[in-house]
Amino acid sequence: MDIKIQKTATPKEKPADETKLGFGHIFTDHMFVMNYDTGEGWHDARIVPYGEITLSPAAMCLHYGQEIFEGLKAYRTADGSIQLFRPQENFKRMNVSAERMVIPPIDEEFVLKALIELLQVEKDWVPHTDGASLYIRPFIFATDPYVGVRPADHYLFMIILSPSGAYYSTGLNPVKIYVEEKYVRAVRGGTGFAKTAANYAISLKGQDEAHRQEYEQVLWLDGVEQKYIEEVGSMNIFFVIDGEVITPQLTGSVLPGITRKSALELCSKWGMKVSERRITIEEIASAYDAGKLDEVFGTGTAAVISPVGHLKWGDKVMEINGNKIGAVSQRLYDTMTGIQYGKLPDDMGWIVKL
Ligand code: COI
Repeated sequence: MDIKIQKTATPKEKPADETKLGFGHIFTDHMFVMNYDTGEGWHDARIVPYGEITLSPAAMCLHYGQEIFEGLKAYRTADGSIQLFRPQENFKRMNVSAERMVIPPIDEEFVLKALIELLQVEKDWVPHTDGASLYIRPFIFATDPYVGVRPADHYLFMIILSPSGAYYSTGLNPVKIYVEEKYVRAVRGGTGFAKTAANYAISLKGQDEAHRQEYEQVLWLDGVEQKYIEEVGSMNIFFVIDGEVITPQLTGSVLPGITRKSALELCSKWGMKVSERRITIEEIASAYDAGKLDEVFGTGTAAVISPVGHLKWGDKVMEINGNKIGAVSQRLYDTMTGIQYGKLPDDMGWIVKL
């Protein structure tokens, strides 16, 4: 399929201070769009000026949330070139999410090609500052004007781009996380493993209550017994207990993070003891009481590696590693960002250069 390109006649000013980008509220000049219609498949791939879209008020995505998305980043290296981190994994996961949400699959190779073409058009928007990058948001949603419940026949696939800094306002400083005991994010057989809007909508209530207690995010427990640790919603979670790196196993209600997978691969390569297993919040509290909870950190595309400094479970507040980033988190952060920004050799074969 050909990709038509229509350039804007009114390009925007680029952000003057790349150290103050924040996350996800500045958008570039162009976006990628492609339509799907039953009987025709995906068609009309195009790069057009970034702008508003018109939708019927009856568009099915607005009523029943048939939507999926991805998140990845483009990084600027010291020699000025641009590179992506494991983008094939994002489009592979997008098809897993699509299957769960009864959305037609995409051609993974084609959308990667489309993304690269969009990035060529927008290359000057990729920040030059350390820690900043161009956040990439591919998404698909149902557009049929119909208020009955069924899978749609018409969809839009879009990619928008946002020059961004750290996801958390704390940057690489440890975040405060609160263990959610009232609400749940996902249940067995549900959509927890898919990157779909519903999983994030459902998390807002817990996040809102956490914010009122001055915690940044919530740590979700399993939706059945509310005992086993799952994930944070904006990131997967890792614990270092007595030297062992542990993360909850993928049981269907946890997002299979690409940063999670990369962190596991790096720790294994470094010869660390690594486990993907079910882990209870009681086990974490006991390890803390025994002085064996060395580190807690989150992994995510937006969050990168985010150390957790405080973990609150009921009345118990656990201060981790003196509220400082730990050795494993720091090594992962340095290695991951080193590879992403081209400061370290890509010996894992994770980089796609533009
Ligand atoms: C990402 O890390 O890319 C995500 O999609 C998580 C989102 C909360 C920003």
